[in-house]
Amino acid sequence: MALAFRCSTASPLQWDGEALAVGLFAGEAGEAGRRGLAERFGEELLRSLEQRRFTAKPGQCITLQALGQTPATLVLLGLGEPADFSGEQLRNATAAACRAANGAGAQSLGLNLPLEGLEPAAAAAVVAEAARLSLFADQRFKSEADPAPCLSEVVLLGLPAAAESAAHEAIAAAPALCSGVELARELVAAPPNVVTPQALADTAATIAAEFGLELKVLERADCEALGMGSYLAVAQGSDLAPKFIHLTYRPAGETNRRLVLVGKGLTFDSGGYNLKTAGSQIEMMKYDMGGSAAVLGAMRAIGELKPAGVEVHMIVAACENMISGGAIHPGAIVKASNGRTIEINNTDAEGRLTLADALVYASKLEPDAIVDLATLTGACVIALGEEIAGLWSPSDALAEALVDAGDRGGENLWRMPLRASYREGLKSGLADMKNTGPRPGGSITAALFLQDFVAKDIPWAHLDIAGTVWSDKGRGPDPAGATGFGVRTLVNWVRAGGPA
Ligand code: BES
Ligand code: MN
Ligand code: ZN
Repeated sequence: MALAFRCSTASPLQWDGEALAVGLFAGEAGEAGRRGLAERFGEELLRSLEQRRFTAKPGQCITLQALGQTPATLVLLGLGEPADFSGEQLRNATAAACRAANGAGAQSLGLNLPLEGLEPAAAAAVVAEAARLSLFADQRFKSEADPAPCLSEVVLLGLPAAAESAAHEAIAAAPALCSGVELARELVAAPPNVVTPQALADTAATIAAEFGLELKVLERADCEALGMGSYLAVAQGSDLAPKFIHLTYRPAGETNRRLVLVGKGLTFDSGGYNLKTAGSQIEMMKYDMGGSAAVLGAMRAIGELKPAGVEVHMIVAACENMISGGAIHPGAIVKASNGRTIEINNTDAEGRLTLADALVYASKLEPDAIVDLATLTGACVIALGEEIAGLWSPSDALAEALVDAGDRGGENLWRMPLRASYREGLKSGLADMKNTGPRPGGSITAALFLQDFVAKDIPWAHLDIAGTVWSDKGRGPDPAGATGFGVRTLVNWVRAGGPA
């Protein structure tokens, strides 16, 4: 059962649910909060906090339980210095509170977190999303599932009365957005023998049927007819047929903006004949469809939210990168659907080969902007780690709009240089270009490769999500495993209606 979330102007002191979570600032700034707690729960509480060395540093979380009292569970959250408090702290504190309350067996949780300094409606959305996303657990592949989360109601208390209606509006979109993130997490976490190119096409069909979207799936022969030699070269080593998936959301009424979301959809990346070796995480390469999961998740959310005035296309050139007698040779020269010839000097740089034909197709739709998401390079993981995705775009306005959208959803993007001189690294003696440049700056040459397949006049951005698609330990509202990264950024961006 989905989590019910609401905002309330009621004072936290009146909360009579099973659990109450209270955020406290460190030092002086936390004095008023501590006094309030002492008045409600007695001085003993403060002594107990001291005993447990609670200093309210950020991330600290203590759960106290008192049988027979209301609330029976009290969760204390450290928020650090007020000057450092931000939407990100609010998001993390919410996630910690929900997990603690759920762990303590509570069904209802009241949240008493400071919203000062934050825009109340935006803060309410942050809390609503974090509450739901932090409780997600994937039980699909267990023969005996863990019990579902018992926490079923979360209430953000103490909302300023003036902010009430804006907050209600802001949280109304959270369930659809979170369903999109959860779909993306499930697609990424599912193993490569379950999420195949056909399974991605089936997922698109389910979204299309449920929300009234348009779906076109191009088979191998259709792609051949369009001259997609680059994409098909990757697919040819697999026993599974490629599926080129085009899903479209059209708004009721007039259309002011037309956007295309492109996702890398390698349901498994063995490397091909440039086979991945020990330490290259070959066993994790089921997540090489993280870009397609993000765009499918975003389309699921957009299909449900039905934003006005914006038409959204999603394109996924899905396939596997495998080895067989029919697989592409290292050194092969292929031709993409825009006529460019490519020398495949490394079969493990396959994502860009599939995206090349997807971006040519996207350009033919003549949209106002194209954004692609891809688990494209290990180099991006080395550069930015697992908390930040790389962003490349020739358009300042589009780059800023995406960074902003990511920020509101707790997804960090860092703009990287599209340095034109590095294009030298992709020069081929025989063909128009090679698919792989030198190791240094590997995520930059990958982005430059993609740029060649986008029509020059269309604002375009590329997000390399190789590091952010998966989190071994979990962080903030993302449990360990698949993060669903990208859905929040895309949905916020599409709904913002800003530049491009
Ligand atoms: N899917 C990988 C990139 C990747 C690596 C994602 C690690 C997540 C974690 C991509 O297809 C790939 O193999 N890239 C190569 C490119 C190289 C051959 C130029 C890489 O990064 O090593
Ligand atoms: Mn690869
Ligand atoms: Zn790959």
